[in-house]
Amino acid sequence: QVIYLNGEYVSKEDAKISVYDHGFLYGDGIFEGIRIYGGNIFKCREHLERLYDSAKSIMLNIPLTQPEMQDVLVETIRRNGLRDGYIRLVVSRGPGDLGLDPRRSPKANVIIIVEQLSIYPEEAYVNGLKTVSVSTRRNVPDALNPKIKSLNYLNNILVKIQANLAGVGEAIMLNSQGYVAEGSSDNIFIVKRGVVYTPPCYCGALEGITRAAIIELSAKLGYTLKEEPFTLHDVYVADEVFFTGTAAEVIAVREVDARIIGEGKAGPITTNLLQEFRKLVQ
Ligand code: PDD
Repeated sequence: QVIYLNGEYVSKEDAKISVYDHGFLYGDGIFEGIRIYGGNIFKCREHLERLYDSAKSIMLNIPLTQPEMQDVLVETIRRNGLRDGYIRLVVSRGPGDLGLDPRRSPKANVIIIVEQLSIYPEEAYVNGLKTVSVSTRRNVPDALNPKIKSLNYLNNILVKIQANLAGVGEAIMLNSQGYVAEGSSDNIFIVKRGVVYTPPCYCGALEGITRAAIIELSAKLGYTLKEEPFTLHDVYVADEVFFTGTAAEVIAVREVDARIIGEGKAGPITTNLLQEFRKLVQ
């Protein structure tokens, strides 16, 4: 396994950064999770745009242009010889001193890790995941805009811990007003009477690339899709619930807080969207 680290390709053992890195000390940085399907980077431009937008928003200077970053991604994949896998692209503020001041971290760290992906078993895409809602609340936009895919994932980690304690694979996070935001690392959709709903990003959802792909696919397939705030009640009584994300793709939910969703397995719209999504990435 070869890791890209600030212009060099190094082994996993040699891929080391300073303990003064502000990504480590303060979660000061941004990242992307990207898929490679059949040797192609899925939605590369979209991921890079989100990364560079996140960087601009937090005034983090990425020492590569977007086209240079794309070249480096391609080269890292080539060196790893992977046709299907997962890319983790991380840009941290870089090493500084113990203070917060980013002016003391003039050189960002750029890291690209390419790996095989461990995803949910195929059975889960048919039967759906069991999930629970958790008490951890998503950062609301006035704290840290959820559009910034930052290294501050403590909320999400707490959600994952609560999911683990409940013995489920993914959990549902609300925002501080009680509206559904997203999962620990996936966007959420519900279907009711043939209409597909997903929370607007201002409810505390990341502007997911898979989410955008599903919104586009829904239109193509003739489904009505609404970006509207909804509550847990709406989730409990939905005909279908599913998560979307780079790692998870489109995965059905069969149970939320012990309420069985629809028939207790992937519903017809979820199944259709998954199939069409998989055609898209072939
Ligand atoms: N997840 N919401 C959160 C909090 C996420 O971390 C992610 C991505 C998503 C889905 O976004 P996208 O479709 O752009 O991946 C939503 C991890 C990093 C992943 O799935 O790779």
